[in-house]
Amino acid sequence: MSFHSRLPGYSPTPLTEVPALAKELGVGRVFVKDESYRFGLSAFKALGASWAIANLLLERSGGAETADLSELRSFAARNPIEFVAATDGNHGRAVAWMATLVGLRAHIFVPVVTSPKMISAIAAEGAKVTAVSGSYDEAVELAAAEVSANSSAVLVQDTAWPGYINVPTRIVEGYTTLFDEIDLQMEGINTTSSSLIAVPVGVGSLAQAAVTHYRSKNDSRNVSILSVEADSAACLLSSLISGDQISVPTDVTNMAGLNCGTVSSLAWPYLQGGIDAAISVSDILAAQAVLDLAECGISSGPSGASSLAGARSALCGKGSRRRREEIDINQNSVVVLLSTEGNSGLVS
Ligand SMILES: Cc1ncc(COP(=O)(O)O)c(C=O)c1O
Repeated sequence: MSFHSRLPGYSPTPLTEVPALAKELGVGRVFVKDESYRFGLSAFKALGASWAIANLLLERSGGAETADLSELRSFAARNPIEFVAATDGNHGRAVAWMATLVGLRAHIFVPVVTSPKMISAIAAEGAKVTAVSGSYDEAVELAAAEVSANSSAVLVQDTAWPGYINVPTRIVEGYTTLFDEIDLQMEGINTTSSSLIAVPVGVGSLAQAAVTHYRSKNDSRNVSILSVEADSAACLLSSLISGDQISVPTDVTNMAGLNCGTVSSLAWPYLQGGIDAAISVSDILAAQAVLDLAECGISSGPSGASSLAGARSALCGKGSRRRREEIDINQNSVVVLLSTEGNSGLVS
């Protein structure tokens, strides 16, 4: 997306081939999309937060401005507002970063389990941080309540619910840049065989962007989408099994970015119709994947490395023959693992 390419610090994040993982997973080639390099924030989330904040300002300007950063800044200086968000960490850090870029304030709500290092990292981007006593879902409710009580505050939430659709729609649009980059990086790579993309899932907005991207392309690609959640927060898996969007109680997990109990209402119909396979993984498997990616020279935190843990559980071991057949994955297939965050040491 040209908007992102004009932000300071933008460059496409690496797509790194890892032959050792192809051998282990029994496929032709494996690539890791390494979001540890994104805008110096070590996670993909700024793609969504930046586009949503730019659009909030553009809408307020009544179309008088463009998405050029200097124009956004000068409009913001004349029309100050505060951006409010709840977060497991990375989204709030990204909102704080973008708010500072346009010269505005941010107030970020974090659940009780958020690590002190992550709280400091969000505050270091210039935001006020409020730790709430409950879960991520409760932090979302408190952030929304804060905005209802404060006329100069605007909610920048990366999940949707009935009546709150506009911002999450923009956030999902922003994530498209990641998939556009992959398309460009895969140019010239033979993908005539089937492929699989493994996507870490919290509320499912990133996976919604994946479904939109791979299902709307009118081409011959045969890309299966595998969603990967934390065992202790598998709201998508539970919803897919029940056939209805349901919330689940959550617990502490090292995959902090995936620690969400409710699928975004906007994402749910896309995921129900567009996900080919869904899996959840334990903290132990995610921690092992962090170590293994580090061995391959890739910095990945547990939420990011969950894609490798999920691909391993889906494509290897007992029952994998049937699972591979069902999603049409064979020894020639190409697998892309989204490593959505670096091992920044902020989650514990
Ligand atoms: C590192 C990381 N990966 C994946 C996700 C999941 O994204 P989504 O909540 O859109 O499913 C998040 C969400 O915060 C995250 O921080």
